[in-house]
Parts: sequence; C-alpha cells; structure tokens
Amino acid sequence: MLLINKKAFMFKKTAIVSLFTFIAASYMAQNHTQPVYLDESKPVEQRIQDALSRMTVEEKVSMLHAQSKFSSPGVPRLGIPEFWTTDGPHGVRPEVMWDEWDQAGWTNDSIIAYPALTALSATWNKKMSWNYGKALGEEARYRKKDILLGPGVNIYRTPLNGRNFEYMGEDPYLTSKMVVPYIKGVQSNGVATSVKHFALNNQEMFRHTSNVNIDDRTLYEIYLPPFKAAVTEGDSWTIMGAYDMYKNQYASQNQYLLNDILKKEWGYKGVVVSDWGAVNNTEQAIHNGLDLEFGSWTNGLSAGTKNAYDNYYLAKPYLDLIKAGKVGTQELDDKVTRLLRLAYKTTMNRNKPFGNIASEEHKAVAKEIGEEGIVLLKNQGDILPIDINKAKKIAVIGENAIKIMTVGGGSSSLKVKYETLPLDGIKTRFGKQADVQYARGYVGDIGGEYNGVKSGQNLKDDRSAAELLNEAVELAKKSDYVIFVGGLNKSDFQDSEGNDRKSYGLPYNQDNLISALAKANKNLAVVLVSGNAVAMPWIKEVPSVLQSWYLGSEAGNSIASVLAGDANPSGKLPFTFPVKLEDNSAHRLGEYPGQKDELAAGKGKDQKNPINITYNEGVFVGYRWHDTKKIKPLFSFGHGLSYTTFEFGKASADKTVMSQDDKITFTVTVKNTGKKAGAEVVQLYISDIKASVPRPSKELKGFEKVYLNPGEQTEVTFMIDKTALSYFDADKHEWTAEPGDFEALIGNSSDAIKTKVKFTLK
Ligand code: BGC
Repeated sequence: MLLINKKAFMFKKTAIVSLFTFIAASYMAQNHTQPVYLDESKPVEQRIQDALSRMTVEEKVSMLHAQSKFSSPGVPRLGIPEFWTTDGPHGVRPEVMWDEWDQAGWTNDSIIAYPALTALSATWNKKMSWNYGKALGEEARYRKKDILLGPGVNIYRTPLNGRNFEYMGEDPYLTSKMVVPYIKGVQSNGVATSVKHFALNNQEMFRHTSNVNIDDRTLYEIYLPPFKAAVTEGDSWTIMGAYDMYKNQYASQNQYLLNDILKKEWGYKGVVVSDWGAVNNTEQAIHNGLDLEFGSWTNGLSAGTKNAYDNYYLAKPYLDLIKAGKVGTQELDDKVTRLLRLAYKTTMNRNKPFGNIASEEHKAVAKEIGEEGIVLLKNQGDILPIDINKAKKIAVIGENAIKIMTVGGGSSSLKVKYETLPLDGIKTRFGKQADVQYARGYVGDIGGEYNGVKSGQNLKDDRSAAELLNEAVELAKKSDYVIFVGGLNKSDFQDSEGNDRKSYGLPYNQDNLISALAKANKNLAVVLVSGNAVAMPWIKEVPSVLQSWYLGSEAGNSIASVLAGDANPSGKLPFTFPVKLEDNSAHRLGEYPGQKDELAAGKGKDQKNPINITYNEGVFVGYRWHDTKKIKPLFSFGHGLSYTTFEFGKASADKTVMSQDDKITFTVTVKNTGKKAGAEVVQLYISDIKASVPRPSKELKGFEKVYLNPGEQTEVTFMIDKTALSYFDADKHEWTAEPGDFEALIGNSSDAIKTKVKFTLK
C-alpha cells in the first residue's frame, strides 16, 4: 500500500514537475517569442510584411504625414516608433516647438557647426566628406534624430542663388563623388540622410511658383547625377523632393521625377519625403511617388485647429478616398513598406551607436575641413602666409571678422556650443607676438536672430560710412599688415534661404573700402566669407585673396591657421567666379529669374500664376560654358593656390585605342617642388574632340588629392571607361560614347591644364 502510495506519489511528483515545466516553458515562450516584425533573426522584408498585416488602414495612413513640425507618428499600439527629423546639412538644428518654427528653448540642444557644404566640396577630398558625415551623424544620433535633412546637391547655376552655400558647386561629377562618403558617414550612425532638393531647385526666387523647362540631355548630364549617386552609390535612405515644378507638376508629387526616374529607372527602395509645405494635391501625392508629407500649410494648420495634421494631403483626404473606394491600398502599402524599411535601419535598429556631441574629434574634424576648404585665390609676392617676424602690428578690418555666421540663412541655422570668430582666431594665433587691432570698416547686417536663437551680439554702430572707412584706413596705414575679413552674410537677400541675392557685387560699400585699404597698405590679405562668387572690381589692386566659406564652430581657428601657414591651403573652387554676372550662362542667355515676358506680366506671384524658367544654356553650366565660349573667368572652377609649388610630369596612357567595353588608365607624376609640405588636387578632364552634338570643351571625370613633402613625388593614376566619354542621347534615352578621338587633360584647375594625352574610342 505504502509502496503503491509511494509510486503514486512519485508519479504525481513527476507529473507536477512536468506540468510546472510546461507552464514555465509556455510562459517563457509567450514572453520571449517575438512577433515576426520584432524578431531580429528574421529577414527584414518578412518583418515588414508581418508588421503590415497587423496594421489597420488608419494606422498606415497615419504614418504618411507629420504630427509636428519635424516628427511623424509611428504605430503606438505595435510599438513602432515615431520618426524624428532635423535640419540640416551643416549641424543638427535646435529643437523647435511642436507646431512652430520657433526654437523650443531647450538648453541641451547646442552642437558643433561644421563648415558649409561649399567648403566641404572645396576640399576635393572624399576622406573629409566621410569624416564630416560620421561626426555630424554622431551628433544627430545623440540628439535622437532619425533623419537628417541634407545634404543638398542642387547644381550651382547662378551666383545669385541664395542657397548655394548649402550645396556642393557647379559640377555633377565633383558633387557626386563628394556626396557619397558624407551619406555613408551619417548613416553609419543609424541616422538616415535626406538628400535634397530633388530636383531643379536652383534658385530661391519663385521657388514655390515656378516651372522649370529643361531638355532631357541637360537634366541627365548636369542636374540628376548627384542625386543618382546619392541613392545608387550612397544608398541614401531618404530623399527630399523640391518646391518647384517640373513639367508643370510640383516636384514633391511628380510622376516623372519620383516614379519614372527615381523609383523605376534607378530602382530606389527608400522613402521620398516632401519638402516642408511642398505638397498641394492628394491624388498626385498618392500616385506620383511621395511617401512622407511634411510641413503642409493647410488651412487647418494656419487656423491652428487641434487636428491640423489630419488636414494634410496624405492624411484624412487620403483615408476618405480609400474608404469611398476611389483609390485602392496598393500605393499605401508600398509607402508604408518603405517607411518600415527605414524604421528597421533607424528607429528599430537595435545595433545603432549612441552618438556623441562636441567631442575633441568633432572639433578637429570641423577645423581640418575648414583649413582644407579655404581657397587661396591670389597670392602675389607671397604676401601669405603672414611673416610673423615682420608683422608686429596687424590690423583686422571688416564686419565678418566679428560676426556670428551660424545663426541665420534659413533652415540650416544653428545653435552652437561656440563659434570662433575670425578676429578671435587671429588674436589667439598672432596676439602673443603682434599687436592686433580691429576696425569695423563698414556696417552690414546688425541682426543676429533666427527663430528665437540669438547670436547675443550687439552689432549696432551709428557712425557714417565715411567715418567707418576713415578709421579703417588710418589703422591700415599705421599697421605692418592688414587682414580684411568681409564678404556676404546669412541675412535675407545674401547667402540665405527664401530669396536670392539682388546683385553680384559685394554689399555695404566693401568695394570702396577694399580699394582704399589697398592704397593704404600693400600688405593686404582679403578674406572673403561667403557661399557664393562675388564681383571683385579691385582684384588687380590687392595682392592676396582667400576664399573662406562659412566654416562653422572653428571658423576663426581655421582662417588663422591658413593665414599663419600652419595649414597650407589646398582648397579648390567648386564653382566658377565670373568677372561679371552677364558672363554666367544662365544670365547671358536670359532665363533668370524667369521668362522675361512673364516676369514683366507679374507672373510667379502665386501658385495660380507660376512663372516659367527655361534653362536655355543647356549643359553649358559653369566652366563648361566659360571654356567652350572662351569667356575668361575671374577665377576658374578647380582653381586654388598653395604655399608650395607642384610640378606635373608628362601624362601617359596604357593604350592609345580603346573599345567600348575597355578601360583606359592615365598616369601622371606630381612633385612638390617648393619648400613646404602641401597638397595638390590632380584633376582629370575629358575632351571629346569631334562630336555630333555640341559638347563642353572639357568635363571633369576624375580627381585625386595628394599630400607631398618638399621634394617628394608621387604617381597618380586614373582609370576610366566609356561612361567618362559619354553624353546623354535624349532621343534614345541612353548614354552614348561616340567613336572617335578624345583627349585626357590633366592639371590643377580647369584653366591650368599641365599635360594631355590623346586616345581613340573604337
Ligand atoms: C527647406 C528644407 C528644409 C525644410 C525643413 C524647407 O523650407 O527647403 O531644406 O529641410 O524646410 O526645415
């Protein structure tokens, strides 16, 4: 009995243990088996399908539009996070209020400002671009941002475009090569880039009310390549549409640009984000390739209703159409699929780093890019670098020596941890050995506020222009050395979003001042802070000119370091400086800021009366125009001097005849023949000697930056295939390399070709 009972007991015990184990196991299974969409061991596309199958139509639609100025909703019920976006290309924008552009007033959102993209491009150094993207992406990550609204790659068509400082210049090849590492650097942090503004937003004037007419060849050869490189080589996870119209359809809801080219031709799998307020039609937004709508200024929003975001074109109006059976859900699922794909790379990526802000490395990156981007335009009599043994009294003159430049300019405006001003940088570098004195010279823009972020400077000065000029000239006369720091600034109608510059010349009486300073002291260095080319009527009067862009937090230190020769300048212009505005092709051929008759008739004032802008100049943009038409520029594309000298050897090719699927390699030696270590940018241009269509006399197809010690020599090779020889045949809609003779031109500027090699394409 006892035995039986013991057996029964043993049985019972085993049964209880097994039951317990079973309950525990299923409890654990319940808690540890993730639904597929959360299961990281599953392929992403499978996870996306699982998430889609769990979402209601309402939840899907809610993902397609903003919920605040810079964020869009996730799916709270399923734990799919919100997306947080931020401007912009040069640093992480301060937090703004939920529904307003004004800053929120947080005290933990200041960051490092990196040099403007023109400066990055002027380095002609792909490594710098990666460093930039990585550092900026780390700051965005730390600030918990998922999408960085940049970089901008619209081609420099006119020096009046207020936003050129946010872009990478006039050449599609240079821009394409420079943008890719930036994107990869940012995205290595689990932060998406949003390459912008796709496409043809090449001026600010009429950006909301213009329609661009452009032939296919020009579109494909000049304006599309940087975007194509950004998505196909850089794999930018998002792309931002533009404001303007193309083929009479707004770019952010444009069948041709978004569906036909981007998604079909280029096979883009990422997310198309609208520019802020660029959407105005639900049907087009649904069908023409837009995925995520931001910034719409619908009536609901301007009237401030609580559910303003429901009034977005891809919100309730979309849902209503679906519910009424007027549109299906195929487009909806495609859009949400893309957004979920983005989520798995950003918000739902558990392997992303934490990021960091204002590390010593970040400051060093900002300073180094600034130094490498500064372009020495002229240096007669080797005025630069400043000889510290002779410069005991240094005069610094000009408003830009003391003006904060990171506040202003539009959406790229920043709230920085610090910004070293040129005057402070110069004082720090030279102040121990020399007496550094300052005079303003002119008063330009005394403002210093953007969306509630204040520079904290009081730049008010009531003295007359004559008084300011006299004071500056007197100081120049009694100094050993004069550094003038002027140029443009980030106020409206200068280098700023929303408007274009009104004229090509320097504003605020600077031309007169520079001439007067040149007369007062022959040791004059002109430092131009701008993101655009400017006229220099005084160029023959001044011995040296440095093109310094907007250089961000380390601006003053980078400038001082180049002035002192601690850094040897190696920047090259990413765009042409014409002598006068009419020398620029868009202005010479007339269609800027719009079609003349329509302009006279007052078109372009509102969206009902848009203005046409025809790109009559075709592919002849920048140096392509100047070279072909033999219009000598003030400073050419690719130009930039150094404190040392370089000598190019004779270039050679590994063959003289190549077939259509061959590659050809060019080799050239470069030697540092001067006394300082320095860097040279070896530039390869290709010229199609005889073509059946008008072609630019040469086009950039390769570049390499080499660092050489005095006396050191290196060999640079470029390998190209027929893509470097091709033009876009619009009739056939394909790239064509015409058999015949070509020439490889190698030099250190588009107007300084040192060596040439002829070859033939079979
Ligand atoms: C600009 C974009 C910017 C967006 C958000 C727009 O007005 O054109 O470049 O990213 O605003 O600030």
